[in-house]
Amino acid sequence: MTSPVPELADCADACADQLLDAEEVLLASHIDADGLTSAAVASTGLERAGIEFEAVFKKQLDAHEIATIAATEYDTVLFTDFGSGQLDDIARHEREGDFTPVVADHHKPAADVETEFHLNPLLFGIDGASELSGAGAAYVLARALGQTTTDDDRANADLAALAVVGAVGDMQASGGELHGANAGIVAEGVEAGVLGETTDLALYGRQTRPLPKLLEYSSDVYIPGISNSQSGAVGFLSDLDVDLKRDGDWRTWVDLSADERQTVASALVRRAIQRGVPAQKIDGLVATTYTLLDEHEGTELRDASEFSTLLNATARYERADVGLAVCLGDRDGALDRARDLLTNHRRNLSEGLRWVQNEGVTREEHVQWFDAGTHIRETIVGIVAGMAVGSDGVDREVPIVAFASKNDEETKVSARGTHALVRAGLDLSAVMGEASAAVGGKGGGHDVAAGATIPAGQEQAFIDRADDIVGQQLG
Ligand code: C5P
Ligand code: C5P
Ligand code: C5P
Ligand code: ZN
Repeated sequence: MTSPVPELADCADACADQLLDAEEVLLASHIDADGLTSAAVASTGLERAGIEFEAVFKKQLDAHEIATIAATEYDTVLFTDFGSGQLDDIARHEREGDFTPVVADHHKPAADVETEFHLNPLLFGIDGASELSGAGAAYVLARALGQTTTDDDRANADLAALAVVGAVGDMQASGGELHGANAGIVAEGVEAGVLGETTDLALYGRQTRPLPKLLEYSSDVYIPGISNSQSGAVGFLSDLDVDLKRDGDWRTWVDLSADERQTVASALVRRAIQRGVPAQKIDGLVATTYTLLDEHEGTELRDASEFSTLLNATARYERADVGLAVCLGDRDGALDRARDLLTNHRRNLSEGLRWVQNEGVTREEHVQWFDAGTHIRETIVGIVAGMAVGSDGVDREVPIVAFASKNDEETKVSARGTHALVRAGLDLSAVMGEASAAVGGKGGGHDVAAGATIPAGQEQAFIDRADDIVGQQLG
């Protein structure tokens, strides 16, 4: 059999066999783009293999949620995009005979426990923060299921498109493209004819944003006079010697011909050079883009990055059902509802970012932080923290920690670093785990991005502890 990630092949086969032996499976997954695509990939694999299942989504898998799962009738539970970090609790229920767990995840495993059906890249020398996502792990499993139940070596390779959306949603395309095991999945998707991989302008919104909005909102590469300036973006485009409107409306990037794109891109690079944007930043204007070839051009679903944002707009607002339906191809009602949710999500992100910029961050010795209280929803405070890094007053050189209120008793913590800090020794998963344990909470995640839940009122104690640990890691 061929596996997209050969290191995981044996483990994936064992997990597939276990699922095939089950009468019915409860599939539990996480509420972000990677969690949704994980669930979509896994449920398609289960369905095609003739395995009955039900899917549920959880904001955070904690002891209480695992107990709720244990109380159901299901004897086999498939966890995707979470489970590894909670393996201690899961293994306890397994020992008590509540269910047999199959875990397909990419988070740091809880220490000192193991369970038989645990598919995690980190156990096989593959980086779970940058080389394989939850959806990637689910894809490896779905491929094994497909090959076990059919004679087709390529069975389920069409699911590579969703796996790539998950990886992009977890920001694994660092430096402009997907690497390692992810690149193997991309190759399978290209071969299956469901994915296109091209070098293109790296701005968010190539499929759906009218050109001036595409440029105005492109703050990742800041171009003075264009970024964050509606009149600047319109002026720049109007001065070009191409007709970028149709029937009076601005066209989108994907609507342009190759020549027209070249004209706009060259002018943009020229302008960036004139305005003194550093060469390294300008290089970031171009990146590898992943196109879902079965989707209609001009829709969010055609582009992996826009697709992942659309999914975050659903499940992070308690509408995982809508996101899952979109992934599974139910386009009529679900896509319209997802678009409404996206409008709301975007507004929340930009209001959240503005709030952080107005209030500012507090600088400790080794970290910076803000407490959004109830001003930012706890399910998106991590995205806002990530977007805030590098904006005015927020240093790229130290990690950022963000708090948001979950309820009267609990506070959500999100932390974000950079790959440069990780190379220097930062491991935010350990920081969140240890600092939360010190104040009676629980946390984990990845080296570059992690989170925790702590008792309300413990924020300052948590920060003091986190500051010390980051100091040790970077010291
Ligand atoms: O739970 P999960 O693994 O899906 O969450 C990963 C989170 O880490 C995402 O919100 C993603 O945006 C964030 N991340 C980040 N920077 C990276 C890698 C991941 O902010 N370089
Ligand atoms: O690109 P990145 O993963 O940092 O984006 C985080 C979130 O911010 C995305 O999920 C998307 O919703 C939003 N975003 C946006 N417009 C941009 C960049 C990001 O709406 N130009
Ligand atoms: O929620 P946020 O996007 O900040 O989460 C960042 C990473 O930390 C995710 O991979 C998430 O699964 C993980 N996390 C965790 N335990 C928590 C909260 C978040 O492992 N209590
Ligand atoms: Zn993930």
